[in-house]
Amino acid sequence: MGAEAQTRIAAAPDLAALEALRVHFLGKQGTISGLLKTLGAMTAEQRQVDGPRIHALREAVTGALAERKAAMEQAALEAQLASETIDLSLPAPEAQRGAVHPVSQVMDELAEIFADLGFSVATGPEIEDDWHNFTALNMPESHPARAMHDTFYFPNQLAVAGDDGSPRRMLLRTHTSPVQVRTMMSQGAPLRIIAPGRVYRSDSDATHTPMFHQVEGLVIDRDIHLGHLKWTLETFLKAFFERDDIVLRLRPSYFPFTEPSIEVDVGFALEGTRRVLGGDGDAPGHGWMELLGSGMVNRNVISACGLDPEEWQGFAFGVGVDRLAMLKYGMDDLRAFFDGDLRWLRHYGFSA
Ligand code: PHE
Repeated sequence: MGAEAQTRIAAAPDLAALEALRVHFLGKQGTISGLLKTLGAMTAEQRQVDGPRIHALREAVTGALAERKAAMEQAALEAQLASETIDLSLPAPEAQRGAVHPVSQVMDELAEIFADLGFSVATGPEIEDDWHNFTALNMPESHPARAMHDTFYFPNQLAVAGDDGSPRRMLLRTHTSPVQVRTMMSQGAPLRIIAPGRVYRSDSDATHTPMFHQVEGLVIDRDIHLGHLKWTLETFLKAFFERDDIVLRLRPSYFPFTEPSIEVDVGFALEGTRRVLGGDGDAPGHGWMELLGSGMVNRNVISACGLDPEEWQGFAFGVGVDRLAMLKYGMDDLRAFFDGDLRWLRHYGFSA
């Protein structure tokens, strides 16, 4: 029986056949298992003779099965290696190189321009609470302006308790203005910061994406007035668009967190259908384009942040970074910013 088992194991063509043989010899109903069961009925003398022989047979068959299995696996591995050889003489696939994204590029440019004007960069969390995003910015619970922000709220169960114990709902910040609040509270006055970063609103079309970027500017000091705001914006926009003929038009507007509030338009010239920034928007062939929101920080905001509005005043502005990039580089679809398409980057001259 030993020799027959050896032959059949050696001839097994694959792992399935080998497993069938194992069951045939060593399984519960197997032939060798059957022999082992006969030992109980034997006389002591007979058992002394047959016992070691049956056990040796089982050892031999177990060993042969294991050996054959290892050989099969080795052969399979070698076949796989042989079929997967790497041809080192083939040319390597061309690696796609990325570039600094226009949004990052613009944020770096802004940080540089404002650093020259004495501003530092401040940051804050993108997951905010409604106190920092709204209440401290003079938008209490029932304020209608809250509804204008198309806010992404987290479920009510995730609300946290504020300093006064009242619940604060968590949300994705709808603007970078809460960074004003956080910085005034943590650093006090005087202050000169810009706060670039991601903001979120439930909105999507060619000029709106649910996530976009803003940069907030804030100056808090003694005797700050609108003239400082106008000069700062003019200086910044001339440096950013690299043109000395940038002309601004300031229009009265409304934001809860500024008083007075000012919408800033920038003059452009029509070249064909293209709007090129620069020049007086009232001149023939020119027009005005709405660019950013700004104003003198509302005294309610200054006191909510723990400062005395009699001593400290300031101005603030907020502008879309994506919009600045679109204007500077002539891009027309905001959604393409987030597609990660290298051809788009190259088309606008961004490459490594
Ligand atoms: N936070 C405003 C917005 O997102 C922009 C703004 C900032 C306006 C600062 C005035 C002052 O709409």
